[in-house]
Amino acid sequence: MIKFINLSNEKPYIHFQSLYEKALANHQRGIEAISVSSFNQEMNEVEARYVNLKYIASNEWIFFSNYNSPKAQQFDSHSQVSVLIFWPTINTQIRMKASISKTSKEFSDEHFKLRTKEKNALAISSNQSQSIESFDQVTKNFQKTLSSITPYTVRPDYWGGFSFIPYYFEFWQGHKNRLNKRHVFEQQDGEWMELLLQP
Ligand SMILES: Cc1cc2nc3c(=O)[nH]c(=O)nc-3n(C[C@H](O)[C@H](O)[C@H](O)COP(=O)(O)O)c2cc1C
Repeated sequence: MIKFINLSNEKPYIHFQSLYEKALANHQRGIEAISVSSFNQEMNEVEARYVNLKYIASNEWIFFSNYNSPKAQQFDSHSQVSVLIFWPTINTQIRMKASISKTSKEFSDEHFKLRTKEKNALAISSNQSQSIESFDQVTKNFQKTLSSITPYTVRPDYWGGFSFIPYYFEFWQGHKNRLNKRHVFEQQDGEWMELLLQP
């Protein structure tokens, strides 16, 4: 589930919310999964991965991750990302282009407090995407951290939120005979320009 906080009332957000509600009513599984692609400047490569979108606060789309991870390093050196959602229950793809940065420390702290101790133990104990000798090492680190977690455990500074603000949306709806509808909202000089694309 995605939590909406004072959702923007701009056109693409109204459109997104109505599709989200439709997908939810159709019991879409993994509704919060979004693919985020970033640019690895060092390797001159583009990399994609799924993350769970937790909030849309006004026009900021927020997920959480490790701040030392490859994705975090890529966001830091190149802040432009490409984001994708596919909800098969309503045959809808949503494509976004956006600029990404870290959320405030306060926002990350608040979210950390709401999470289970298991999730936080993993966030604290995992050096995300680093290679390991064996999986056993991961479970041992996790168990050790889990046993030391208390209600006063604070968020480590290497874990927190990322927020992206889209400047381009394409809503794609699949139809019979591939007569698919593509509706674009593109921000230009602070205004959302709308256009329709051929399938
Ligand atoms: C459905 C799904 C949701 C995921 N959600 C997150 C998430 O919210 N945060 C996260 O750090 N990784 C999440 N992952 C794992 C990432 O896809 C990825 O493996 C990890 O973040 C390391 O990425 P990186 O090496 O590019 O930094 C998720 C994976 C899947 C399949």
